[in-house]
Amino acid sequence: MLSKIQDIATTLAPRLIEIRRHFHSYPELSGQEYKTAAYVAGVLSSSGLRVQELVGKTGVVGDLARHEVSHSESAEQHQPCLAIRVDMDALPIQEQTNLDFASKNIGLMHACGHDVHTTVGLGTAMVLAQLPNSLPGTTRFLFQPAEETAQGARWMIRDGVLDGVDAVLGLHTFPTILGGSVGIRYGALTAAADDIELVIQGEAGHGARPHEAVDAIWIAAQVVTTLQQAISRTQNPLRPVVLSFGQITGGRAPNVIADQVRLLGTVRSLHPETHRDLPQWIDTIVAQVCQSYGATYDLNYRRGIPSVQNDPELTQLMETAAREALGSDRIEILAEPSLGAEDFALYLDHVPGAMIRLGVGTTGRTNYPLHHPKYHVNEDALLTGVVTMAYSIYQYWQGVGKLGS
Ligand code: NI
Repeated sequence: MLSKIQDIATTLAPRLIEIRRHFHSYPELSGQEYKTAAYVAGVLSSSGLRVQELVGKTGVVGDLARHEVSHSESAEQHQPCLAIRVDMDALPIQEQTNLDFASKNIGLMHACGHDVHTTVGLGTAMVLAQLPNSLPGTTRFLFQPAEETAQGARWMIRDGVLDGVDAVLGLHTFPTILGGSVGIRYGALTAAADDIELVIQGEAGHGARPHEAVDAIWIAAQVVTTLQQAISRTQNPLRPVVLSFGQITGGRAPNVIADQVRLLGTVRSLHPETHRDLPQWIDTIVAQVCQSYGATYDLNYRRGIPSVQNDPELTQLMETAAREALGSDRIEILAEPSLGAEDFALYLDHVPGAMIRLGVGTTGRTNYPLHHPKYHVNEDALLTGVVTMAYSIYQYWQGVGKLGS
């Protein structure tokens, strides 16, 4: 079956490059992926999948169902279902690649490789659609909008895309792995990302008489410093926490003590228990500092998305499939997770899943990081992605068959 998958995918490869370049030329912002979604729906329909549009606002779902399901069976039994998730949105970045298929939409760019993900999703569906009756359940393709704004997975889940789903697989491009290779990571793949908004309320006064006021700027400085020191002294160093304040505003005039300061920040963590405890931990420290100097505060800790925790069995399944399909020299076992965030994690709150890293690097050139205006993709990754996904899905269904479920 592997050689059959490889043959079909190889035949499709020129078409996949064409599709990817089309998406790359016409990137759309998060939640506005109308043309991308329409294109996706067209390809899925013509490949014979059952398609639902406008799921999760601008998302598309394509079901590749087992043939010959009898009526009694389909009505009463749970049909096993494996979901494949890819994301479709681009970024508000002006492209600087000089490619002849560079973005034609001013100020927008596929700088995170979601054009590749969408294409790999389509290619995988096209390959599997040509293997009739070899999949004993439903393979559901989730084309998700708005990953960059961490909204799309929520929208899709709210619209019921995980109903009846047993597991979910995904992939993301990665520039430091060469095109043709994939990266496998057991356990945490990405970080949990939360936001904090902290308003410190002091009391205004004359700059010459600080003792008659409560200086919100000085107290804010204490809070920032104390939090950084407390991470190093009270958090387990094997469970990293990154807290960065990216915006701070307050004060009215050079000679007036500031009565209020507002701080905005992001909090990244990897361990689920750390993630759970962080709001209370931050609140305690802020409270202690503010109380010491007579200020009050209002802390708004907004849970963003949790860490992607890859399921060990599904990760193993994808690793084994990739080794067989690509050869062991093209598999990198990743020792370290990333502190970036990925809303694939929200699906994992409901079902087990695994995400792999798809190498898009090229030897002999600068491989710019994700979200860079010169982000460049080695298109060998398209075939690698499709073969790895399609064969992983095939192997998943073989396993389910053996378990007799
Ligand atoms: Ni991305």
